[in-house]
Amino acid sequence: MFSSTRRRTAGAMIASLAVLGLAACSSEQASTDAGSDSGDTGSAAEETISIGFSQVGAESGWRAANTKSIQDTLTQENGFDLSFSDAQQKQENQIQALRSYIQQGVDVLAFSPVVETGWDAVLEEAKAADIPVILTDRAVDSDDDSLYESFIGSDFVLEGETAGEWAVEQYDGEGYQVVELQGTTGAAPAIDRKAGFETAIEGSDLEIIDSQTGNFTRTEGKQVMEGFLQKYDDIDLVYAHNDDMGLGAIEAIEAAGMVPGEDIKIITVDAVKDGMQALADGKINYIVECNPLLGPDLADVAKKVIAGEAVEKRIVVKDKAFDQEAAVEALPSREY
Ligand code: AHR
Repeated sequence: MFSSTRRRTAGAMIASLAVLGLAACSSEQASTDAGSDSGDTGSAAEETISIGFSQVGAESGWRAANTKSIQDTLTQENGFDLSFSDAQQKQENQIQALRSYIQQGVDVLAFSPVVETGWDAVLEEAKAADIPVILTDRAVDSDDDSLYESFIGSDFVLEGETAGEWAVEQYDGEGYQVVELQGTTGAAPAIDRKAGFETAIEGSDLEIIDSQTGNFTRTEGKQVMEGFLQKYDDIDLVYAHNDDMGLGAIEAIEAAGMVPGEDIKIITVDAVKDGMQALADGKINYIVECNPLLGPDLADVAKKVIAGEAVEKRIVVKDKAFDQEAAVEALPSREY
């Protein structure tokens, strides 16, 4: 059963008909079929769902895998008419994209918020237009959770804790000096991975001596690490909020004549192929996974929301963690 409030653009309706191979006059036939002996009660449910998705950007290997998962899943064959936009890590671009999708009257809005705060106004506009919103990957910080249907993504605090617990297990008692490469300032994974790591190392003799943002990119991770290496000559461990910044740090450490993974240990989050290769090669010491393959869950939730079915407010994606041995084993079948 479809929600009575569902809106469809003329374009989406045409697309639906094209996908189903139906002429305009055949809708009557479809509804007749629904009640026939064939047992096919799903003709309406096979209509195309128009969905506007605003992506954070293309800042990392993780993001590329996440975009691919969404684009590969929300296809016409799977019942979707996807409009996709890249916000280039700018909140104003995302707000503009969301407003444009609202104006187009899409059936569902989905997005991965660049930063946590500042979304209430545009989400209220979506609510007023009766367009359900699904959050993927990153959360919004709002007092009103009726502004979205569901949030699908990893537990970033747990990822930070897992990284910190491993660091304490391996290096406590050695007086390790840690530098932190933070993700984008104000982004949920940067806030939560920092908090989780700090909680885990509390009471140990690991000390964060500096912490700066590398904006989740390899280039900025390298630049920030170069700065750290000029400022401090006693760095023992880099905690990078993603693989890309860790890979940038490797370049900076090597350029400074040191051996990453030995002279300076490295812990990252994500577990994309490039990161896993560096872990297998001994240049990174430990990686906490963040699974980017959110397309299937998004498709499932969008279909349920449109069908008027209940969905879970929070869908937590499960992550693993890898040391060198586990990376060597996992690499041949790694999907992203
Ligand atoms: O929000 C998920 C984070 O964003 C990933 O860990 C990082 O690589 C990406 O840019």
